[in-house]
Amino acid sequence: MRKLIVAGNWKMNGTRQLAADMVHALKETSLPTDVSVVVFPPSILVGSFVDCSGCKTGIQNINSEPSGAYTGELSASMVKEAGCSYVLVGHSERRSLFGEQDDLVAAKVKAAVGNGLMPVLCVGETLEQREAGDYLAVIKSQVVLGLSRLSIAELEKVTLAYEPVWAIGTGRTATPEQAQNVHASVREVLAEEYSRKVADEMSILYGGSVNAKSAGALFAQPDIDGGLVGGASLKVNEFLTICSAAA
Ligand code: G3P
Repeated sequence: MRKLIVAGNWKMNGTRQLAADMVHALKETSLPTDVSVVVFPPSILVGSFVDCSGCKTGIQNINSEPSGAYTGELSASMVKEAGCSYVLVGHSERRSLFGEQDDLVAAKVKAAVGNGLMPVLCVGETLEQREAGDYLAVIKSQVVLGLSRLSIAELEKVTLAYEPVWAIGTGRTATPEQAQNVHASVREVLAEEYSRKVADEMSILYGGSVNAKSAGALFAQPDIDGGLVGGASLKVNEFLTICSAAA
């Protein structure tokens, strides 16, 4: 049985007060026990979440190196020691705004797994790639290259997130059919490249303008195992509604 996960990626947003409000709401609200909730706040707010009984804590980025002269960076072991369980890797904003290529993404995935963190490997096509019709090839390449430094046994430590770039922050959510088509294709890639067991057991989240209205139909799809939520995760009640929709 695949893990159902709803994760909130706050990006560079939020305050200590919002963190306190979210922690309180997650503690006080009885959410479905089969859904794992993860919050990825800005790293400066991680301390607000590590003792939260209603969620796991994620970090939005790590350096691939174990330590060294990398001003401003955080290593996998540091964020693990700080209480984080998950790390986003390969998010389209890291790829487009910070020039992260697949080889660095693969190194970060390896560093995460090597330090007991669950990497959420983000993949997704641009609008141009979708309109050109080669989006499945693009996504397959991102998946295979992002996982390329892992052993078969380590693959069970990875969660994937399909985030079509054209749906991120636009309000233009992929339809359940569009998302299911990609998730099913990714699962077939996993079966071909690795094994049916890896394919059947890896959680694949959908991200891209998920909200309280769209979550139910998306999460009802057989190959969608939850969501990676941006803007809507900054609204406490809406995020809780989305978490409940994953059960
Ligand atoms: O990582 C999740 C994020 O990229 C999706 O953002 O605002 O479209 O839900 P949003």
